[in-house]
Amino acid sequence: MQTPMIDYIHLLLESIGEDGGHVASYIPELAQANPDRLAVAIATLDGKVYVAGDADVEFTIQSISKPLTYALAIADQGLESVLQHIDVEPSGDAFNEISLDPDTGRPRNPMINAGAIAAHALVSGEDADARVDRIVDLYSRLAGRSLSIAEDVFESELSEADRNMALAYMLRTVGKLEGTPTDVVRGYTRQCSVSVTVRDLARMASVLAAGGVTAEGERVLEPEVNRQVLSVMATCGMYNSAGDWLTSVGIPAKSGVAGGLMGIMPGQVGIAVFSPRLDAHGNSTRGVRMFERMNHDLGLHLM
Ligand code: DON
Repeated sequence: MQTPMIDYIHLLLESIGEDGGHVASYIPELAQANPDRLAVAIATLDGKVYVAGDADVEFTIQSISKPLTYALAIADQGLESVLQHIDVEPSGDAFNEISLDPDTGRPRNPMINAGAIAAHALVSGEDADARVDRIVDLYSRLAGRSLSIAEDVFESELSEADRNMALAYMLRTVGKLEGTPTDVVRGYTRQCSVSVTVRDLARMASVLAAGGVTAEGERVLEPEVNRQVLSVMATCGMYNSAGDWLTSVGIPAKSGVAGGLMGIMPGQVGIAVFSPRLDAHGNSTRGVRMFERMNHDLGLHLM
C-alpha cells in the first residue's frame, strides 16, 4: 500500500535545498564519489521499506559499522570485559583523535576510531579473517541480505591508514588492544569497507529499533546488548556534534564518512539517509539537515 510516507520522503528530497561541505578526501577512493547523490529510506518494524532518491546506490558503511561491531564484541566477551577495554563517555573530540583516558588508557567510547579499533579486536575468531567473516555475517543478518566488501575502497583506505595504525599501536602500549595492530587495523578497515545502500541501513536500524529482532522474527542481538549500543549511539554517535544532534534531532544515530547516516526510533522505525558531502565533524551535511527536517515534520525526538 502506498501511504503518505512515500509522498513525504519524496517531498523531503525535493525540498532539501543547497548542499554544503566536501566529500571525504583522506580516503582516495571516496574522493571519487559522486557528491550529488541523495537518498532516504524508512523501514518499519514489520519489514516495509519506503525509499526515495538514489536508494539502490551502494556506498561503504564506514563508521556506521562501529556500533554493530561493538554489539558483537559485547555478545562475545560480555559487557564487563568490553567496558574494561573501552569507556562510554562522549569525547568531544574528532572521530580520529587519540582520545584515551589518562588514568585507565581506555579509549573514550566505541564510536571514535580508537574505541572502534579496540572493539574490532574483541570480536572472537580463530584468526583475523575469521573475525571479519563473523562481522560481515552479523551485518548481513541485520540487513536481511548477504553483504560484501568493496575491495577498491578497502585497498585505498589501507594504503592511507597510518593514523589508525598509530592508534592501534598506542592502544597496545596501554594494554587495550588484543592481537597484532596491523591485523586489527586491516580487519577494521575491511569492516568499514562493507558496501551498503540506504535500504540496508534503514533495515539494520529497524532491527535495532525492534530491540534486536528482525521483521521475520529472528533475534540477532540480545535486548541488553541492543540497549547498550543505542545508548552509546545516542551520546557519542555523532562525535563532537553529539550534543547538537541529541538536542536538535534527539534519537540514537551513527554517521559514516562515505555520507551515510542511520537513525533509530526505538519501537517505531529505522531511518537512513545518504549524501556524500560532509560537514566539519565528518557527518553528512544534507543528511543531518534531512534528519532535522524529519524531526520537525514527524516528531522524532525522544525527549
Ligand atoms: O577509520 C576511518 O577513518 C574510516 N574508516 C571511518 C571514519 C568515519 O566514517 C567517520 N565518520 N563519520
